[in-house]
Amino acid sequence: MADNANGDANGKAKTGLRKGLTNYGDDGFSLFLRRAFIKGAGYTDDALSRPIVAIANTGSAYNPCHGNAPQLIEAIKRGVQLAGGLPVEFPTISIAESFSHPTSMYLRNLMSMDTEEMIRAQPMDAVVLIGGCDKTVPAQLMGAASAGVPAIQLVTGAMLTGSHRGERVGACTDCRRFWASFRGDQIDQEEIDAVNTQLVATVGTCSVMGTASTMACIAEAMGIMLPGGASPPAVSADRIRIAERTGTQAVAMIGAGLTPARILTPKAVENALRVLLAIGGSTNGIIHLTAIAGRLGIRIDLDLLDRMARETPVLVDLKPSGQHYMEDLHRAGGLVTVMRELKDLLHLDALTVTGRTLGEELDAAPPAFKQEVVRPLAKPVYPQGGIAVLRGNLAPGGAIIKQSAANAQLMEHEGRAVVFEDAEDLASRIDDPALDVTAQDVLVLKRIGPVGAPGMPEAGYIPIPRKLAREGVKDMVRISDGRMSGTAAGTIVLHVTPEAAIGGPLAIVRNGDRIRLSVQTRSIELLLSDDDIAARLAALPPRVADPDARGYRKLFLETIMQADDGCDFDFLRAPKVVATVPGDKR
Ligand code: FES
Repeated sequence: MADNANGDANGKAKTGLRKGLTNYGDDGFSLFLRRAFIKGAGYTDDALSRPIVAIANTGSAYNPCHGNAPQLIEAIKRGVQLAGGLPVEFPTISIAESFSHPTSMYLRNLMSMDTEEMIRAQPMDAVVLIGGCDKTVPAQLMGAASAGVPAIQLVTGAMLTGSHRGERVGACTDCRRFWASFRGDQIDQEEIDAVNTQLVATVGTCSVMGTASTMACIAEAMGIMLPGGASPPAVSADRIRIAERTGTQAVAMIGAGLTPARILTPKAVENALRVLLAIGGSTNGIIHLTAIAGRLGIRIDLDLLDRMARETPVLVDLKPSGQHYMEDLHRAGGLVTVMRELKDLLHLDALTVTGRTLGEELDAAPPAFKQEVVRPLAKPVYPQGGIAVLRGNLAPGGAIIKQSAANAQLMEHEGRAVVFEDAEDLASRIDDPALDVTAQDVLVLKRIGPVGAPGMPEAGYIPIPRKLAREGVKDMVRISDGRMSGTAAGTIVLHVTPEAAIGGPLAIVRNGDRIRLSVQTRSIELLLSDDDIAARLAALPPRVADPDARGYRKLFLETIMQADDGCDFDFLRAPKVVATVPGDKR
């Protein structure tokens, strides 16, 4: 038998520096050269004979959410060395939400490709993924799932809260609340400047149950992160200890062959969906989980998800659905407190990175104690899961609403459409005093979907028109094919599929049309006859390719899939579906 990249002539797996040799047509020379170069960095033969744990370093001066990466790397290295391994860090793309043009989602798949290919290309027996800000954890898990090397997720952890004139504040629910007050003239320039300094009190990810916290909880629920790894704040000793233990566990995973495919199973994905619903998690979590699962041939069915949502109450009292912050969830025992409540609804036999099952980990967790952040199943924050799936002639492929963060009075609503054709149209007219709009109208924003913007920006949180904001209007029904930040709240219909830019029905909505939203019946309808809808669809201009698109943008526009497929590139997901989730647990 001939050698290949990761197996020797006897079919035995290669390890450490012998893995993935550069191809010079002479493996002996390739290894000789590799050792010579790395010895130039001062390594001994003893160090180079150890199992290699690589560390995907996403520290970047452009990413304050990852500002503690140097301390985490130091602790991971300590953990790896304590277990007899050799830690080797390497850089990948880092994406920070507010430093990414046109939007961070546009870059998620690029980061996943970078992560996957660097794991494949470089010699490593296991990899620690340091994620945190919204798109980084999904990108890393997508890449690691495809690469197939034992992988363990670490997150940077949430920032601490700040204080503004005696009021506790944190990014980014409070960012939006204060900005809305400023737009409505309820606070002045001096106050908005003052709060700007307090909203992000430390490095770390957003302090509420936004997308970053949601993805951290999902990763822990799936077992691809150490138990207790989701909640420690970025600047806490607990976070550093988790990092050290993550390094140690990565070495143990090598011998146990704990690849992502053994952990990210259909049961693990179902556990993640259950937890996402119970924590009042971000709508973005659905898209990211769909993309991660899709890499392993696991398909998330939106209608089945809605059924799961009806039987999964929101238990976690965190903003934007509730009132607390991530550091409070940590003090309340972290995610294990939530999963203990959900125990009967979880697949306890799902394997985790520790080599033990989720059930074994929950049994071994510290005992429960009195706290006020995680409610018991019998006394939830919200009786159903935070997210509902809508269907109807406006969204044949589905749409999402975060009902736990919506206005109860608006969830059954019919109103007149006030239409914005794209993000530029919105920006130029939303604050126009002459805009024909009332609080009972339905704001519609087109062409902010995966292809439309492109990159499906978090522009679905359409601002309340300034003239209404000044009258004290805080919420309206808003509909788009885009996303919204997990930290935002309102009666906002998102992810309308198919999107307007590829000829979805959202494209035919005109000013003055009537739209009916019923979260109760899970429907979103344009009140036009089928014939009228067909005629308008037939009259849409044909889609034309962007003649100037090149490079990554061209790849993106030609291969991006819709929200119900996780917005992954079509060539990156697994070639065939092997399981559909969620199934029945009860
Ligand atoms: Fe990075 Fe919110 S901006 S986690």
